Amino acid sequence: MDPDQLECRELREGDDMVAVMELMQQGFGGSAIRTGRRAVPAPSTSRGEWILAAFDQGRPVGTAVMRDMTQWWGGAPVPMCGTSGLSIAPEYRRLGVGRRLFSHVQQEGLARGYPLLSGYPMSPPFFRSLGWEMVGRRFQTEISIQSLRSITAPKVRLRRAGPPDASQVRTLIADVHREQRDSGPVLFDPDATRIMLATPGLYNYLADDGFLSYHWNGTKEIIVQRLLARSEATLRAMWAMVASYATQAHTVRAWLAPNDPITWLLADADDRLTGTHIWGVRITDAPTAMAARGFPGSRPIRVPLLIEDTVIPANSGRWTLVVADGKGALEPDDGSVGPSPLTLTAGGLAALYGGIPLPLLRRTGLARGGDVEGDPALDALFATQPHTFDSW
Ligand SMILES: CC(C)(COP(=O)(O)OP(=O)(O)OC[C@H]1O[C@@H](n2cnc3c(N)ncnc32)[C@H](O)[C@@H]1OP(=O)(O)O)[C@@H](O)C(=O)NCCC(=O)NCCS
Repeated sequence: MDPDQLECRELREGDDMVAVMELMQQGFGGSAIRTGRRAVPAPSTSRGEWILAAFDQGRPVGTAVMRDMTQWWGGAPVPMCGTSGLSIAPEYRRLGVGRRLFSHVQQEGLARGYPLLSGYPMSPPFFRSLGWEMVGRRFQTEISIQSLRSITAPKVRLRRAGPPDASQVRTLIADVHREQRDSGPVLFDPDATRIMLATPGLYNYLADDGFLSYHWNGTKEIIVQRLLARSEATLRAMWAMVASYATQAHTVRAWLAPNDPITWLLADADDRLTGTHIWGVRITDAPTAMAARGFPGSRPIRVPLLIEDTVIPANSGRWTLVVADGKGALEPDDGSVGPSPLTLTAGGLAALYGGIPLPLLRRTGLARGGDVEGDPALDALFATQPHTFDSW
């Protein structure tokens, strides 16, 4: 079997959907079903989700899922393709099939206009070999519900939200991430927001400037899926709503930013990070990704770069990174700018984009050369703490 001879494409009518689903099931166990959220996947046009497969003489031997998403970087929304569900039939593993299928996924993401892919790589060596690097985490915080009762509740109207509120919810989430200059949080496509707002057992509330989404886990624990607000009054009111379950629940587990305001609202030091899942990114179109990201305002800076990307050659070569007035640009460079550019691997570029400091990149082989004296200024531009509230 020659991996290059395999057919890699999006699923279409007539494909053996059950075999594809079984393949995902075999790779991930029960949770794989979540990626399709339907018993038998069908090629999707409106849901912003595509299932791809590698076929060996018509038989699916590998699967991958791509999703249309937006991810905030430095407070700016960047079109991002979420990847998941990569599963190769066990008898086809370590033969280059995963590499062949996922290279196709990366090209497909590029062709569909996404400068960035993001996902939760469970096999870092595989993803690194394709130009990915780990940049962020999904943090869960555990809080005793009794300690939440110390948060006083001003009079803020919270109303139950449903599918007709989808665009208000999306605007509000976008406003919060812009104001907080967040990196990492995502929004799925608009259909997914409507489905989320209609999900039985998920309780969604809107204030004029806040959004709360939570559900029970068993009978003693509340999971806060998202709690975002633009004012202290609304933050307090939403946490007070969660605290009103103190007669029944013992614990709240919340997907929160590592520096969530809750730490500063609680009377006790009772919030505890309990879990983190690491995620990574792949920059597929370096100039577009750099132009889409937000940067802090600063004195203009110009840094000569050499990018080494063996998988997506269009990223490779000499560039000048220019950042001014909160905007970034990668300008092609004929080599005349400086004798010693900062050299980044594809993973190094992803890690820099994600705010991993240059001293760390230099120690892990992701960056070398350039002007070491200039590292702090460059790090200050990219500094951020990427986090997500969702998995995909
Ligand atoms: C991880 C997975 C997708 C890799 O697919 P694959 O077809 O076996 O990988 P390839 O043969 O294309 O490997 C390409 C390169 O990735 C790296 N790689 C792949 N699997 C690896 C492993 N288990 N450990 C270390 N490196 C690995 C190697 O560098 C490899 O090149 P090499 O074989 O020349 O050394 C596959 O093993 C799988 O389906 N696993 C179960 C589900 C899963 O974990 N999916 C990933 C979820 S994010």
